Amino acid sequence: MQELLGRIQRRVDALPSGLRDHIYRVRDIARQLAPKHDIDPDLASLGMLAHDVARAMADEELLHRADELGLPVGTVEQAIPLLLHGPVGAEMLVKEEGLTDTSIHQAVYWHSTAHPDLDPLGKLVFLADKLDPQKVLRFPYQPLLMQMATEDLDRAILEFLSREIVTMVSQGLMVHPRALETRNHLLAATTPTDTKTEK
Ligand SMILES: [Fe+2]
Ligand SMILES: [Fe+2]
Repeated sequence: MQELLGRIQRRVDALPSGLRDHIYRVRDIARQLAPKHDIDPDLASLGMLAHDVARAMADEELLHRADELGLPVGTVEQAIPLLLHGPVGAEMLVKEEGLTDTSIHQAVYWHSTAHPDLDPLGKLVFLADKLDPQKVLRFPYQPLLMQMATEDLDRAILEFLSREIVTMVSQGLMVHPRALETRNHLLAATTPTDTKTEK
C-alpha cells in the first residue's frame, strides 16, 4: 500500500497546481468524514489522491485512452468525454501502477456519475469530491450536503443526484445512465413500498 501511495503521489505531483489543490482539499474532507462511516482514513486519502489522476487530459486524449484501454464509450461519454476521466484514471492505475484494490478502483472509476454498487469508500470519494468549497457556486447546497454526508452517505448521494439531474435536464443537458440508475437504486432502498409507484 505504501508503494502504491508513493506511485499515486508522483502522479499527483505532476498534475496542474489548481487540480492538485482540489485533490488535497477533498482528501482532507474525506479524511474528516471517514471515521463517521467506519472507513479507514488512509484508504479514503488514497482514494481521493487517485480520483483525478486523468482529470487533466484533453477530450481527444481521454477518448483515445478509453479506446486503447477497451473501456465502453456510450452516447453520453462520446458527447462529454470529460466523463471518461474516472474510468481512464482507474484503468491506468491498474495497468501502469499495479493497483489491485477493487474498492479504490471502483471509487475512482465511478466518481463522476456514481454507480448503484458503490461501496462506502466509493460513496465517500464521490461525495467528498463534490464538497470542495471551491465548488460552492456550482453546488450552493453544499452545507446541507455536508451535513447529510456526515450522517448518511446514501441520503447525501440521493440528494445530490436528484438536484443535479433536475438541473441537467432543465438545462437541456444529457444525464449519464449510471447517475439515473444510482438514484433509482437509492430511492428504491429508502422509499416505503406503498409510495414507490404513482397512483
Ligand atoms: Fe474528477
Ligand atoms: Fe475531483
